[in-house]
Amino acid sequence: MDARTPDASRRRLLIATGTVGGAGLVATAVPFVSSMAPSEAAKAAGAPVELDLGKVGPGKLLTVEFRGKPVWVVHRTDAMIKTLGKHEDQLVDPNSDQPQQPPYAKNPTRSIKPEYFVATGICTHLGCIPLYRPEPGASDVGADWPGGFYCPCHGSKFDLAGRVVRNVPAPANLEIPIHMYLADTRLLIGKDKQKT
Ligand code: FES
Repeated sequence: MDARTPDASRRRLLIATGTVGGAGLVATAVPFVSSMAPSEAAKAAGAPVELDLGKVGPGKLLTVEFRGKPVWVVHRTDAMIKTLGKHEDQLVDPNSDQPQQPPYAKNPTRSIKPEYFVATGICTHLGCIPLYRPEPGASDVGADWPGGFYCPCHGSKFDLAGRVVRNVPAPANLEIPIHMYLADTRLLIGKDKQKT
């Protein structure tokens, strides 16, 4: 195993213990809704994961496992969406020019629907799982913190669209997996309209 990357057991532990910090917006890793959870065999094969977005309240983050990795779904509020246009000068790749997302997520919110952010919860430095820190100006992260994701391993920071902040170890924005909407609040992760 590459000594720089956390092993699977650490990743599972981090998923199980949640990826969230922040007063008032504390969310925990939410288990699969049993009726929609794929079988263990299907998960191992990388079957797409379907979610009812009604389970993700405003400001909350829900984590699901897809192909052995945590995938986040964040229900961004209007206030959270508004923060995204205010700090481009702090970002490495504000326009998402690096291929860290499918084409339909190469836009200012890096999403199909601005209110739902879907991303792989793996730091692009060495693979730790960042913490969800949505509160702007959190004193322990920085007065200019716009709210987003903070990686405790080496201090990388990402905004609420998963865009990496300058002068941190992570070189790129968080990855966004392929996904699509089956209905207004039905999300499918791992499949999109461009792939069968
Ligand atoms: S793994 Fe190094 S900052 Fe995230």
